[in-house]
Amino acid sequence: MQKIHWSEQYSVGVQSLDEQHKNFIDMVNGLMDDVQAEAELAVVADTLSRMKQHANEHFFMEERLMKLFQYPGIENHRIEHQLFIKKIVDSSIGETFYCGIEPRELMRYLHDWWHNHILYEDMKYKPYMAGKPVPHFVATVFREDGSPQND
Ligand SMILES: [Fe+2]
Ligand SMILES: [Fe+2]
Repeated sequence: MQKIHWSEQYSVGVQSLDEQHKNFIDMVNGLMDDVQAEAELAVVADTLSRMKQHANEHFFMEERLMKLFQYPGIENHRIEHQLFIKKIVDSSIGETFYCGIEPRELMRYLHDWWHNHILYEDMKYKPYMAGKPVPHFVATVFREDGSPQND
């Protein structure tokens, strides 16, 4: 399993979303190092917890943009996001430890999920959004637990 290297082929044409995707790729690559080095469980769990929080924010922003720019595949895309969060939650106990899943198996899931999701699922909305300005209100306020405020 190789690290993911962000390149233009991963670009969805919206700079703020690309920056967030790079951040997730960095987290996945860092986790690969940690799991490889058999790092403390707490180190891995901490990254996992951050990933969940950032993913909630990222998914919320993506879904708002998809709605705004009338991307027709929004419902299926939303389900993909929900399944990912469920997987992370199911892999955690009280946001502190992951359990029941072998670390390398979890690593592979995260690696493949981000790689495939950006490259194949997120890429589908690119024609609807690329080059369009992101309205200020989309960068919204989040609750302390990272979940988005409903408006
Ligand atoms: Fe995304
Ligand atoms: Fe997405």
